[in-house]
Amino acid sequence: PKRTIPKDRCIDNTCKLLMEGYLFIPNRCRRYKTDLFQTRLMGQKVICLSGEDAAEIFYNNHLFTRKGAIPKRIQKTLFGKKAIQTMDGPDHKHRKSMFLSMMTPNRMDRLVKITEKQWLKSAKQWERKDRIILFNEAGKILCRSACQWAGVPIRKSEVTQRAKDFSAMIDAFGAVGPRHWKGRCARNRCEKWMKQIIKDTRCEKIYVPEGTALHDIAFYRDAKGKLLRPKIAGIEIINVLRPITAIATYITFGAVAMHTNPECEKKIQYDEDNYTHMFAQEVRRYYPFGPFLGARVRNDFLYNHQLFRKGTLVFLDLYGTDHDARIWYQPNHFWPERFKYRKGSPYDFIPQGGGNYDTGHRCPGEWITTMLIKVSMSFLANHLKYKVPLQDLGYSLRRMPTLPKSKFIMQKIKLV
Ligand code: HEM
Repeated sequence: PKRTIPKDRCIDNTCKLLMEGYLFIPNRCRRYKTDLFQTRLMGQKVICLSGEDAAEIFYNNHLFTRKGAIPKRIQKTLFGKKAIQTMDGPDHKHRKSMFLSMMTPNRMDRLVKITEKQWLKSAKQWERKDRIILFNEAGKILCRSACQWAGVPIRKSEVTQRAKDFSAMIDAFGAVGPRHWKGRCARNRCEKWMKQIIKDTRCEKIYVPEGTALHDIAFYRDAKGKLLRPKIAGIEIINVLRPITAIATYITFGAVAMHTNPECEKKIQYDEDNYTHMFAQEVRRYYPFGPFLGARVRNDFLYNHQLFRKGTLVFLDLYGTDHDARIWYQPNHFWPERFKYRKGSPYDFIPQGGGNYDTGHRCPGEWITTMLIKVSMSFLANHLKYKVPLQDLGYSLRRMPTLPKSKFIMQKIKLV
């Protein structure tokens, strides 16, 4: 049977995307009772895909390429130009192996220990404060921990600004106007900082031990045996520091989840059946972060009786797939125990992308993210007593990226 793909009737839907945010793709999939539909965004035709089967197609390297898929405005804020996110094929695989080589159990464990120490150090100071905003404090803790782990020297007086800059780059991805420009300024400042650090590392002006991300990236040689240009190497070290700092978003949502589901706090304290791990996974599934990803059709192919023409831009719905009722029982219910029963595939749980780590673009920081949410939730539940004053913990699904409005204010903090 010949079926045609549902089409959004419109001249351009970019405004609606900005208004509907995380629900833009899920709303239309529900409306048209479909996993794929066609629309127009940023002046071009886009096919949107959702669900596990669609994710498997999207991560097939024979069908899709990342060349020309990331808009310049995102490269100038979130990712950086010519970074790993824009690469394909053997060159991508080679660069990706550099990132993956940082993720050995020993090295990740070191990051967890560093972060735990930073929580303790910061919490001692909070005891003397009237109130703190968890999102801001977690960002500083993670920025400091990431730099220490990666071998990047950072002065105490610098931490607040750098953490703010990493945050601003992320905050820019769904924005037009001032938020976009703030992200661009933050990126320019950071790239300048990192370019100098790469140069200083290479001429041994600063000492960087082996087995750190800075050492790996500064001395990484591509498939042709060449060092990366200092600007590109700087962009890649930012690709480690920025997302580690971004875990503050999940920590803030995690604190909200613990506060609104009080039984979770007790369960984290007992940690039976590795409950804290399941809690961290459910935070990554339930709360919105990356809304969707883009790629372009490499060569014409047919899927679901639909011709995908070479060069067409295709979006994969991350948020919708993580809330797909065919995969998740009661998807809009926060329920960590669901992970006890999950069989799982590389395509059904995709807050940080799906598919294969080595040959695809799946996030190499997924293990770190889960581990740092875990250690942070464990710290909040086991080592801190605090009051949560009346505040607006709600978050908008229209804003991308989003956060609880109050960013989680804590009072009367005591270390125990
Ligand atoms: C890629 C999300 C943490 C490093 C990605 C992708 C997503 C993502 C959606 C794109 C996948 C794709 O294009 O198919 C997140 C989220 C994080 C997080 C929500 C937690 C807040 C991290 C951490 C690191 C990291 C901790 C590093 C230490 C990277 C890199 C890529 C990437 C280098 C590019 C991979 C490639 O293109 O092959 N991440 N990530 N991320 N992430 Fe993460």
